[in-house]
Amino acid sequence: MAEYILGIESSCDDTSAAVLRDGVLLSNVIASQQVHKDYGGVVPELASRAHELNIVPVVSEALAKAGIKPAELTAIAFTRGPGLLGSLLVGTSFAKSLSLSLDIPMVMVNHLQGHLLANFIRQEGVEPREPAFPYLCLLVSGGNSQIVRVDSPVDYTILGQTIDDAVGEAFDKCSKMLGLGYPGGPVIDRLAKLGDPERFKFAKPQIPGLDYSFSGVKTSLLYFVRDRLAEDPDFLEKNKEDLCASFQKTLIDILMTKLIRAAKQTGIREITIGGGVSANSGLRERLVQEGKKRRWNTYLPEFKFTTDNAAMIAVAGAFQYRAGVRTPLDVAPVSRMADF
Ligand code: KG4
Repeated sequence: MAEYILGIESSCDDTSAAVLRDGVLLSNVIASQQVHKDYGGVVPELASRAHELNIVPVVSEALAKAGIKPAELTAIAFTRGPGLLGSLLVGTSFAKSLSLSLDIPMVMVNHLQGHLLANFIRQEGVEPREPAFPYLCLLVSGGNSQIVRVDSPVDYTILGQTIDDAVGEAFDKCSKMLGLGYPGGPVIDRLAKLGDPERFKFAKPQIPGLDYSFSGVKTSLLYFVRDRLAEDPDFLEKNKEDLCASFQKTLIDILMTKLIRAAKQTGIREITIGGGVSANSGLRERLVQEGKKRRWNTYLPEFKFTTDNAAMIAVAGAFQYRAGVRTPLDVAPVSRMADF
């Protein structure tokens, strides 16, 4: 009998559901919330309400696209955290209700584990390219910036992480400072392609070990822009491409320096990236370049699997389900990684 896993993701502002049959993706439906655009960031209360509206239609569509009925499901994988608590509550409660009504097990997934395993999402007609264990993953999103050693699908260790802001936040805040809107990453990525990455220099942090810091570089941009605007009110408009290219290059330099150090320290040459910022074209190019130079095997998840999606949650859940993990119905969502 085939194994059908339903994945549910609701940790931030995307409501998503996906179905896997024997590890192969049949559907991956994502409802992105537009309501936050006017606020320049995700508003938690609005996010929970939108999840509540979206969850039933999104799950129904994922099942319909997969061509299966709820009764055919084997298990439900859902994001328990980290993320926004009100958002996580919607997905978790939905998973519990479905698990009870269908009398099938559920498996909780750490959202970050989903990103770590994004290269293992198998699709019909697409040749799989999966890293060998152990591998390193540069996990970069709006909430995280980490270097993780992955020893098996269910066994991973954080080698380094940000001590303040996440790199995605740095992209988003930079975009806000430059008046470019939200989310900032995709806009900066696009404008950076048109600019000179060497034109402006921003302060890089000196943090020991494999940890990151992004708050200083953000402040460095803030003061730089403030001083230049005092001299020329049109400074931003005239220089936005160069500003984006230079700022993006600084962030990529910071990320790559520690990743290279981690690869040297561990001797691991299987390297992957994951999380929303791994969609950044500059970062992807640099990773490939450095990989060639350093004889790494690099693995880049497809764009559609870099940002939040339930396909990666279903994959992470399927690995755990097969390892015998079952989550009891009294589970509660958790907002912070430390509570996991
Ligand atoms: O993983 P994700 O969808 O959500 C979580 O934070 O969990 O990541 C969202 C982040 C945002 O900060 C967004 O600006 C950033 O990913 N992002 C990008 C790009 N696309 C999305 N950052 C840089 N370049 C991009 N192309």
